[in-house]
Amino acid sequence: MQPITVRPETHEDERAIDVVHISAFGGEAEAQLVSALRASSDYNRELSLVAELGGRIVGHVLLTRVPLRKGGSEKQLLALGPMSVVPSQSHRGIGSELIEAAKRLAREKGYGSIVVLGHPEYYKRFGFIPAKDRQVTCNLPAPEDALTALEVESGNLEGGGHVEYPEPFVALY
Ligand SMILES: CC(C)(COP(=O)(O)OP(=O)(O)OC[C@H]1O[C@@H](n2cnc3c(N)ncnc32)[C@H](O)[C@@H]1OP(=O)(O)O)[C@@H](O)C(=O)NCCC(=O)NCCS
Repeated sequence: MQPITVRPETHEDERAIDVVHISAFGGEAEAQLVSALRASSDYNRELSLVAELGGRIVGHVLLTRVPLRKGGSEKQLLALGPMSVVPSQSHRGIGSELIEAAKRLAREKGYGSIVVLGHPEYYKRFGFIPAKDRQVTCNLPAPEDALTALEVESGNLEGGGHVEYPEPFVALY
């Protein structure tokens, strides 16, 4: 198989990223979520990673800076998602490469943790644990078990807190 390159998105990748999400999720909701997040003032392209294979975008993962609030204090984490890989290229490790790249990026940028709402069984293999084990909750009405978390920096989630996803996520859920 040709090598997979994981790199930050550019403006030219936007349509291809939409196509990846629409084909993988079978609907437009996640592509619309990415567009809505892109339109927000604090959108950071460096936190949006694409997987390229033979010059074609075949996967995408978005990281969004979110606050974790506890009492009067607040720290910034990264929320991972949406993430998808085109069905024709799934089960080849591309999703795994995207998550490992996201973990490296979080470390490089100095974020202590990543949270994700999604299939807990999938994320477990990358070190994500149930968020409730760290008393971490979020503002989205998803089943409690769907929220998992990874401490990029050991102990970062100690004491727990409440993650506030921005409005485009709230609109999706
Ligand atoms: C989930 C997804 C990103 C995985 O991408 P991928 O490139 O196929 O992932 P990898 O090749 O690294 O890993 C594949 C393994 O993930 C596991 N896996 C895939 N989807 C899973 C799920 N929903 N729940 C649990 N495990 C899952 C399988 O065990 C698979 O192993 P196998 O190849 O031995 O069957 C991709 O299938 C996808 O885009 N799905 C549709 C969109 C989606 O659900 N995104 C995630 C939202 S949380």
